Amino acid sequence: MAFATRQFVRAAASAAAATAAAKKLIVKHVTVIGGGLMGAGIAQVAAASGHTVVLVDQSDEILKKSTKGIEESLKRVTKKKFADKPEAGAEFIEKTLKNLTTSTDAVAVVHSTDLVIEAIVENQEIKNELFKRLDKFAPEHTIFASNTSSLQITQLANSTTRQDRFGGLHFFNPVPMMKLVEVIKTPMTSQKTFESLVDFSKAVGKSPVSCKDTPGFIVNRLLVPYMMEAVRLFERGDASKEDIDVAMKLGAGYPMGPFELLDYVGLDTSKYIIDGWHSLEPNNPLFAPSPLLNQLVEEKKLGKKTGEGFYKYK
Ligand code: NAI
Repeated sequence: MAFATRQFVRAAASAAAATAAAKKLIVKHVTVIGGGLMGAGIAQVAAASGHTVVLVDQSDEILKKSTKGIEESLKRVTKKKFADKPEAGAEFIEKTLKNLTTSTDAVAVVHSTDLVIEAIVENQEIKNELFKRLDKFAPEHTIFASNTSSLQITQLANSTTRQDRFGGLHFFNPVPMMKLVEVIKTPMTSQKTFESLVDFSKAVGKSPVSCKDTPGFIVNRLLVPYMMEAVRLFERGDASKEDIDVAMKLGAGYPMGPFELLDYVGLDTSKYIIDGWHSLEPNNPLFAPSPLLNQLVEEKKLGKKTGEGFYKYK
């Protein structure tokens, strides 16, 4: 009898799981908006894992640069992954690039997409405007996700009428190398949407973790105050940036020092993050802006992507 009951419970549980799974959206077609550092990487991993992807940016010139970057990155990945099988490697690159197209017209391409991943400039108004526009043209079932590092997913979702089909997909830089994705669930994100985003993250080969819609989610809430504290240490003249970087690499075992990391992330992105948090919590000393960071951004020294930030890369 006990055996029969156990069997029944197991069968009922697996039937329930099957129904839940059946309800989830299996993402096949992805639109990535923003072909910069992050968007190009997201488009690459999505295409490499068999999704059809359209990468959107503001001009053909930018998209040419994005595509070139993806091709170079794919070559690096292939060299490692298919070290002994160059033919399989060449086939992998060909298949991936076949899955990838580009466009400068987001509205024209979202009509047939399952998932829109936004990775444009870190600016609330510009992102809101984009989501509001796309909401009118994307199909009912389409999930919207933002890769924002610092803005509230809830506020972005509120610019659309699909708050239940809206979540955060926070990838890490460089996307092809970094295994983590933070999947953000707002109070309005449906369980089905959340599970679909978790499944998509796994499908592109990443390890998803989940977090509520709280400033910085998990990683940046810990990392950004740490980097800002390093800048303050340097600003006070307590130590050189080179020594701070060496200290954190050799003393804490970090793969990059805080200034190398700031240059890598982009100083403009870092400034947006800290300014946004400072306006939310002006009395929190961890979120205080830095005059030096502001000055470098003003001078367009944005880090590796412009050839100079805290360090020179030319
Ligand atoms: P980026 O500056 O390298 O790229 C942004 C791209 O978006 C540019 O190519 C720009 O032309 C394009 N763009 C701007 N407005 C657009 C619009 N209305 N329509 C289409 N394209 C538009 O910036 P990055 O670093 O790739 O950051 C993008 C997003 O990812 C930001 O929200 C940032 O917070 C987030 N993020 C950044 C990380 C990083 O390490 N840089 C890490 C994780 C998230």
